[in-house]
Amino acid sequence: MKGKAFRKFVFFGGKGGTGKTTCAGAYALKMANEGYKALVISTDPAHSLADAFGSSIGPDIVPITHNLWGIEIDAELEAKKYMKSIQDQMLNLVSAVIVEEIKRQLEIAYMSPGAEEAAIFDKFIEIMGLIDNPYDVIVFDTAPTGHTLRLLTLPEILGAWIDHLIDRHMNARQLMKMSARYDKIMKKKLEDDPIVDVLMKRKNKFEFARKILTDGDSCEFIFVLNAEKMPILETERAITILKTFSIPVGGVVVNRVIPSEAGAFFEKRRQTQEEYLEDIDKRFGYLSIVRLPMLETDIQGMEQMETVAKIMGDLDKE
Ligand SMILES: Nc1ncnc2c1ncn2[C@@H]1O[C@H](COP(=O)(O)OP(=O)(O)OP(=O)(O)O)[C@@H](O)[C@H]1O
Ligand SMILES: [Mg+2]
Repeated sequence: MKGKAFRKFVFFGGKGGTGKTTCAGAYALKMANEGYKALVISTDPAHSLADAFGSSIGPDIVPITHNLWGIEIDAELEAKKYMKSIQDQMLNLVSAVIVEEIKRQLEIAYMSPGAEEAAIFDKFIEIMGLIDNPYDVIVFDTAPTGHTLRLLTLPEILGAWIDHLIDRHMNARQLMKMSARYDKIMKKKLEDDPIVDVLMKRKNKFEFARKILTDGDSCEFIFVLNAEKMPILETERAITILKTFSIPVGGVVVNRVIPSEAGAFFEKRRQTQEEYLEDIDKRFGYLSIVRLPMLETDIQGMEQMETVAKIMGDLDKE
């Protein structure tokens, strides 16, 4: 492939309504057109990937067109499945004596902020980690900024949370031991404790995800924004946060750029935009910058997505 080497995992994020779904879908389509097997994943609770492509996409991976597949992850459903799977894993392993304590621990987990994100993340990891993962590139259409940042920074936060759960669990073990109601499992060493084992496996999984997310050769984050003051400042802040977590940012898409032929009515607005476009070039000049013009209508259906896909090609140019 010419130009910049593409990344295996590409995340599109930004404020609500800026065009993330359109850009993520179009970028995946571009990759598919270039002969790569591409999967586009929507994690936004309000899905619109299906609208963009004019085809139905759901909680299972479906083909959209040649070389392109899509899936819309249902956060609530995944959160339920996620908690149930942890619960089942643990309850199968332990005696009735500590079931209550585990349930309490899981309740805390379920109510802790980010449970839904954790579930989505688990799904990410499942797809990213598929050993025979058939995709050359996986494109994530993510929820608005705050939500996504939480999601991407989860591996760090969850690592700490799991450590906390292990601590709690060890305290519970200690208490039960003192009340002499412990059974065989309590006599085992820490390494043999199935709960600690399950928690450690989860932690390892998140660490695996973190390794991918912080590897500039396999992952990048693209921000979609409009050429306006607040979105520019918000994008800059978000980039700083991602940098703190060592997550590589690869580019920005400036969407809804008013074309010069828009006419007199738009002229003033276009001139203001011109200034913001310059500002964007200055602030983000070290990244790939793509400008997507405002089109006459919404971007819906394959034909329009193909038009946007061509423009997204600029993201991979040097
Ligand atoms: N350049 C453009 N010209 C015309 N319409 C556009 C353009 N970019 C996006 N749109 C339209 O604007 C709407 C919002 O775009 P999109 O769904 O991609 O945004 P989003 O950032 O994913 O929104 P949300 O935060 O709600 O998920 C869609 O109807 C889309 O077709
Ligand atoms: Mg969207």
